[in-house]
Amino acid sequence: MRSLRLVSILAVGAVSASAIPATKVSLPYDGFKVFRVKTHAHASEVQKKLSNITFEQWNHDVNSHIDIVLAPDQLVAFEELGLESDTMHQDLGASIAAESAHSSLWRRQAGDPAWFDSYHDYQDHIKYLQSLHDLFPGNSEIISSGYSYENRSLNGIHLWGAGGPGKPAVLYHGTVHAREWISTALVTGYNAGDNDTRSVLDKYDFYIIPVVNPDGFVYTQTTQRLWRKNRQPGPNGSTCYGRDINRNWEFAWDANPQGASTNPCSQTYKGEQPSDSPENKGLDKLVRQLRDGPGIKLYIDWHSYGQYILSPFGYKETLYAPELGKWTKAAQMVSDAIRDSSSDLTTFTFGPSGATLYPTTGAAPDHVYSIGRAEFSYTIELRDIGKYGFVLPPELIRPTVEEQWAGQKVLWSLLDEVFFDGEGPA
Ligand SMILES: *[C@@H]1O[C@H](CO)[C@@H](O)[C@H](O)[C@H]1NC(C)=O
Ligand SMILES: *[C@@H]1O[C@H](CO)[C@@H](O)[C@H](O)[C@H]1NC(C)=O
Ligand SMILES: *[C@@H]1O[C@H](CO)[C@@H](O)[C@H](O)[C@H]1NC(C)=O
Ligand SMILES: *[C@@H]1O[C@H](CO)[C@@H](O)[C@H](O)[C@H]1NC(C)=O
Ligand SMILES: [Zn+2]
Repeated sequence: MRSLRLVSILAVGAVSASAIPATKVSLPYDGFKVFRVKTHAHASEVQKKLSNITFEQWNHDVNSHIDIVLAPDQLVAFEELGLESDTMHQDLGASIAAESAHSSLWRRQAGDPAWFDSYHDYQDHIKYLQSLHDLFPGNSEIISSGYSYENRSLNGIHLWGAGGPGKPAVLYHGTVHAREWISTALVTGYNAGDNDTRSVLDKYDFYIIPVVNPDGFVYTQTTQRLWRKNRQPGPNGSTCYGRDINRNWEFAWDANPQGASTNPCSQTYKGEQPSDSPENKGLDKLVRQLRDGPGIKLYIDWHSYGQYILSPFGYKETLYAPELGKWTKAAQMVSDAIRDSSSDLTTFTFGPSGATLYPTTGAAPDHVYSIGRAEFSYTIELRDIGKYGFVLPPELIRPTVEEQWAGQKVLWSLLDEVFFDGEGPA
């Protein structure tokens, strides 16, 4: 750990468009608008009204609102419905183009905080990981957690402290859902003078895979900004592409018909068999290797949007794991740390995934807890709560990263607390 000055930063983040003409990405959305339609707990009435028009829906939890994307030719019909709504994007094409701005600030060197002022492309992430490794050569290695359908490597970095490697694992996955660019813009800085980071790195090995769905990620940059799944062809000659890698994990894959779709055209298509996407296979292989080796202390799957910290179980709303007390207490402390660190008092909702949000089957936290035996296993949905949704302006990357850094420091300090042994606090 000798010479690391701000070594590193797992930063992981996303696209800048310098290599990609913004118009190419935004083209399908020029003139489109995004509305947050209030449902006031009467979602089915609102959905019935909306059934007359064509739109794309962003969120699943419709109890208070539905976030919808409308093409220009649907706007008049939408206005005639007279629904109560707020505008999230006046012109989605323009917002997507704005994500790509700031390219003069754009850096790919680890340790340069300007990395967090813009989104980045896949190749940049690969170079960034390499520059992290170069800053920390004796304490890190570039790893691959397998290959995508189009044969891109699921690259990541493995970091360790004094006496390492080989300590229990902290495993982070980013950008399983291609459009959630912000989830890659996550920071983890190790500062040689900072006791918190030094002590966590001396206790745990970090495995960070910032882009676990590289084909989908590249597709969002070249073709369709709001793509979510991988890019595997559908089964039985279906013309729809993509499996949802986060409905494809083996544990409880088939446990609840509400938790995923069997329709290859759906955004949450779970595949024909558990782990029948190459990405999931590779990710699961590393999970099992870590389980059978040093063990997994903490797992986090980073997503956007909604500001949630979610623990198992996702597949059944009424099932509570014995560790739920300690997971919830830890999530609360992380949520407090995020709120206290942010200038705008960002708040995160926390709790067991199925009960807090909606049921999900074949999702990562259930699997990495149940099969991977992780002691702590969460999904974190980053900013925001509906102002911008998936298309978060680049100037909000850095505050996102800084508040998560504050939250992760608190979480690491709790991992070995005796306080949490047994049943945890009431
Ligand atoms: C749908 O549109 C048709 C024709 O414009 C109209 O008659 C009907 O009432 C609409 N249905 C709903 C649920 O708004
Ligand atoms: C996938 O990529 C790896 C490494 O880049 C290469 O060794 C392998 O041959 C490729 N496989 C296919 C099927 O192209
Ligand atoms: C870091 O830990 C050392 C040894 O425990 C202590 O002397 C020092 O004050 C700590 N530094 C900070 C910034 O807390
Ligand atoms: C594809 O075909 C297999 C074999 O007939 C069938 O079991 C499966 O349900 C089909 N999948 C879809 C999505 O239609
Ligand atoms: Zn997601």
